Amino acid sequence: GDNDRMNIAIDGPAGAGKSTVARKVAEQLGYVYIDTGAMYRAVTLCAQRAGVSAEQPDKLDQLARSLQIEIEPGEHGQSVFINGEEVTSLIRSREVTLQVSHFAANETVREVLGTMQRQLAARKGVVMDGRDIGSHVLPDAELKIFLTASVKERAMRRFREIADSQIITLEQLETEIAERDRLDEQRDISPLVCASDAVVLDSTGMTIDEVIQAIVKLSRTKMAEA
Ligand code: DC
Repeated sequence: GDNDRMNIAIDGPAGAGKSTVARKVAEQLGYVYIDTGAMYRAVTLCAQRAGVSAEQPDKLDQLARSLQIEIEPGEHGQSVFINGEEVTSLIRSREVTLQVSHFAANETVREVLGTMQRQLAARKGVVMDGRDIGSHVLPDAELKIFLTASVKERAMRRFREIADSQIITLEQLETEIAERDRLDEQRDISPLVCASDAVVLDSTGMTIDEVIQAIVKLSRTKMAEA
């Protein structure tokens, strides 16, 4: 029954494989996968379109509160809509990726999205990935994973994903990932931190499948304990 459903928070730095892992874990457990990074990306895309920068907190406040963001979990991940327009692939652009950390540091943006995320998780049975889910958004999540990997390994994985479509060097990716880590870790409001009760999983040298199985196993153990 619904009483055995729990919430699983998967946090960690960019490129640790959170989204793939979270989606597959959700699939195996019959849970709903929610990618919160996509929500920050959606706000970033809207701000860029509206010509609002992260250094204009008043305008950004207004924009964040006026947006209708919808996420629709599907079989192949999640579709994202802003005010009815599908932006699922637009939010993955390099332009958004390079800017999103700045917008994610805004207090109102975090407040608005955090509230949405809590509502989405209210009925339990979600696997939510992000940076501050276990530490801030869902402090009561039954299972918290902090998924990480070395900067080099994360850059390499990303390189393999995008090298065909975009001209970028591995070194450039490494620098960008390190910079995004720094911004996410050093912002004042809900920075990327490992919750004290999270299980740390370093996936350097592990296959995606090994990581998924490790988390599914942890969730079954938790479920049996409850
Ligand atoms: O996971 P991602 O790369 O799609 O995340 C995009 C950005 O959003 C990333 O720079 C950090 C930020 N983010 C955040 O601050 N809090 C979250 N819960 C999820 C993402």
